[in-house]
Amino acid sequence: MIPESFIQELLARSDIVDVIERYLPLKKAGANYVACCPFHSEKTPSFSVSPSKQFYHCFGCGAHGSAIGFIMEYSGLGFVEAVEDLAGKIGMQVPFQKTEDRGRRPEAAPLTEFMARAAKFYREQLKAGAKAVGYLKGRGLTGEIAARFGLGYAPEGWQSLAEVFDNYQDKALVDCGLVIEGDSGKRYDRFRDRIMFPILDSRGNVIGFGGRVIGQGEPKYLNSPETPLFEKGRELYGLLQARAAIRDEDCIIVVEGYMDVVALAQHGIANAVATLGTATTPTHVHKLLRQADRVIFCFDGDNAGRKAAARALEASLEQVADNKTVAFLFLPPEDDPDSYVRAHGAEAFRKLARQAMPLTDFLMQELKAGKELAAAEGRSQLVHAAKPLLGRLQAPLLRLQLVKQLALASGFSQAEVESLCELPAVVRKAAPARSPRGAPSPLARKLLRLIVQQPALAARLPADLVPGGYAETETLDALIAAVADGALAGEGFGMVLEHFRGTLHEGLISEILRELVEQEYDAESIEAVFADTVERLRQASIRSEIDALNAKNKSVGLAPEEVRRLQQLLAQKQAVKPATLA
Ligand code: UTP
Ligand code: MN
Repeated sequence: MIPESFIQELLARSDIVDVIERYLPLKKAGANYVACCPFHSEKTPSFSVSPSKQFYHCFGCGAHGSAIGFIMEYSGLGFVEAVEDLAGKIGMQVPFQKTEDRGRRPEAAPLTEFMARAAKFYREQLKAGAKAVGYLKGRGLTGEIAARFGLGYAPEGWQSLAEVFDNYQDKALVDCGLVIEGDSGKRYDRFRDRIMFPILDSRGNVIGFGGRVIGQGEPKYLNSPETPLFEKGRELYGLLQARAAIRDEDCIIVVEGYMDVVALAQHGIANAVATLGTATTPTHVHKLLRQADRVIFCFDGDNAGRKAAARALEASLEQVADNKTVAFLFLPPEDDPDSYVRAHGAEAFRKLARQAMPLTDFLMQELKAGKELAAAEGRSQLVHAAKPLLGRLQAPLLRLQLVKQLALASGFSQAEVESLCELPAVVRKAAPARSPRGAPSPLARKLLRLIVQQPALAARLPADLVPGGYAETETLDALIAAVADGALAGEGFGMVLEHFRGTLHEGLISEILRELVEQEYDAESIEAVFADTVERLRQASIRSEIDALNAKNKSVGLAPEEVRRLQQLLAQKQAVKPATLA
């Protein structure tokens, strides 16, 4: 856990314009800055960054958030990583309250330095190594592409890295997987006489290597072990280099090998990434779908490729949403993407990618495989096999489509398929953004807008007038409490959003911020609108008290002090002039 005070300070000390400018060029437009939105494809800029609010907002796709939110979305980082990234950039140290990462974090920074130095050394060795350069040229790569991917060469010696690291005995060299310590305690370089593919994280740190033998040999690829920096099931090779192309095409091609990524890039297909010799994990898919609406898994045409595709399919079930496409591209059995693109060219590959098989079709095909659908047994097995997979598919519309296809293929009715697979009969509604405690109140919503824009107003809202029992009430209470605690002392929407991140109020606060960005109160009228709103609340409260007393009068009658109170209320009600402000 990172203390909230730190988040607030971090946001106060950093400038969202600087942060975003590191990733995309911003143009000044009045008080704000604009750019083409990095989160959807567009030709005219509708992405706006407000320095005064420390907030970004896209008028096209509605994406919005703080500097931290931007880094998360743009780089696909988690919250903690994004905070670390931002803090690192302005030289702040992230304090962790009882963190599960303790023990790992303090070491992590130096390890990346070791990796960076090794990567530099390998790159330099490539320039000097005719054999390695010859090998890469033989595989059709230019120097430009080799440079883009930071390819290198690990020389033949047992302790070549001793040239780079004065202390070859440093424990960190073993910890980051560059050096192996044998049983006798003798140390040697893990990578010797291999072409080196550095693996980068989304910040550009080298976190691991893949090393290919030159020519024939075993193992063909040697990879960094899992280290504090490198977790194979999370990382994707080539993602950083592919980022711009992924944004342009809103599509990611996932392949199996390092060489596939590099060869595709060599042919101008720059939006490819690779899993790192592991099966595709749900974490991978989550990461991928955050960056593009379309993900195409491209596997070798052989049996192993088919198995890999089936694993990727499973990993996708819980991640895919109805507005996202996951598809599968199978190459001819003798090919992998590298050999295919070299033999047939980029256009042929692109054509195959366009015709990739949608997830539902592939799923049906996998389910039907090997079953004799002409027989009742086979048709029952089909539904039996579908049950666990269907249950994991989170996208309601896709699931419904599959149910229909299964019904058709199995001869069961749609309702029978649903009940046999223990699915709820109706399409599941998207989870509500907040708990529906009561009806929405436009007045309460307006208060939220006013206070978010100008937190100081919270203190001037009489406590007995906070509208109770509405959908907005709890969020309003939380907002008022946050202001009273000084938690929102700093300026800006970004801070408000971060304060409520991960809480029940996040959804509503996010909506309020969107409304405000699209139409903000101007400085002159906000006081008047607030006064009018308070007056309306007072009237509403008077009215409801009058109604209650009238009702009581009709049923059991009123006590003398209640009569007096009623008269008082009626007088107050008359004293109120009709409100004129909207
Ligand atoms: P492939 O065996 O398909 O190799 O492994 P490739 O990508 O076609 O490589 P080239 O074209 O012969 O150079 C696919 C991926 O599986 C992992 C690597 O990540 C590789 O890119 N792998 C493969 C290993 O980790 N170790 C191995 O020995 C082989
Ligand atoms: Mn290959």
